[in-house]
Amino acid sequence: MLPTTNVPAALKSTAQFYERVKTVIPDVEWPVHAPYVAAINELKKRRNAVILAHNYQTPEIFHCVADITGDSLALARKAVETDADVIVVAGVHFMAETAKLLNPDKIVLIPDERAGCSLADSITAADIREMRRQYPNTPVVTYVNTSAEVKAESDICCTSGNAVEVVESLGVDQVIFLPDEYLANYVAQQTNVKIISWKGHCEVHERFTGAQLEQYRKDYDGLTIIAHPECPPDVLEASDFVGSTAQMQAFVQTEKPKRVLMVTECSMSDNVAADITDVEFIRPCNLCPHMKRITLANIYEALDTLAPRVEIDPAIAVDARKAVERMIAI
Ligand code: 13P
Ligand code: SF4
Repeated sequence: MLPTTNVPAALKSTAQFYERVKTVIPDVEWPVHAPYVAAINELKKRRNAVILAHNYQTPEIFHCVADITGDSLALARKAVETDADVIVVAGVHFMAETAKLLNPDKIVLIPDERAGCSLADSITAADIREMRRQYPNTPVVTYVNTSAEVKAESDICCTSGNAVEVVESLGVDQVIFLPDEYLANYVAQQTNVKIISWKGHCEVHERFTGAQLEQYRKDYDGLTIIAHPECPPDVLEASDFVGSTAQMQAFVQTEKPKRVLMVTECSMSDNVAADITDVEFIRPCNLCPHMKRITLANIYEALDTLAPRVEIDPAIAVDARKAVERMIAI
């Protein structure tokens, strides 16, 4: 519970934040967010805390309380650099685990422990051991969208932003690449290294179809389509650019297409549109229910109570950390 809900005072002290999001948050909604934005920014200072927010967080979190924002790779890299005592992860559980692996002595909070990921749920440590038995002497590259137990069984991690680079860094002819089948297909098209994949899918990106994109092209003249590599192959084929969430954001920033359709989670377009006002965003919009579990209210609660904390069994953490650190070192 908030200590105070003095809305007029909160509106005044958060006016500069509303300026940043006014094109994507209606003014009737702002009085609901303002008291939380004011209280969280205050509490962060007292706790010496930072908030890491993924690109799929809603604009009032992403633009108004977060200190570090970006794709999974940026969040992992920047998590190492913070000297805060407390890290709040506004994202899903595997992102909070990665932050904890890289900051074992800090308090890492995830405002809702149920914020999971269909990719992380698609594979277990036992599955990896079985794959290793089937393909001996083949290194295992694991997408960061996995549990710490799965990372601990892997040689190296990757994200959608560096997957090809990581695979090629190993200097081998074939790798086991887990768990996202569509990202694995996409990587296989960009490299000569043989990719052995798994059947994991992102429940948000697998819902987009090539037929949908064709229809959007018919409906909107001069449309540029950019997609996340977790999408099915026909979607990627129908797109003008494929990249991680940060690479999609950078594409819009530098290319300034007249009209763009970002084939990914809904909040991504809102967050980019808040900064780039001279591009028209067409929103196909599939929500990630896990990302949406994080709210201003539970971020406040987490900072106030310093719970729920992310803890990782030290026996698992040692190997999982190695796999993440090898990726960061590339
Ligand atoms: P990025 O690393 O591209 O931000 O992707 C993370 C994710 O969960 C995509 O669904
Ligand atoms: Fe996982 Fe997909 Fe949600 Fe990303 S968008 S967290 S991959 S379920």
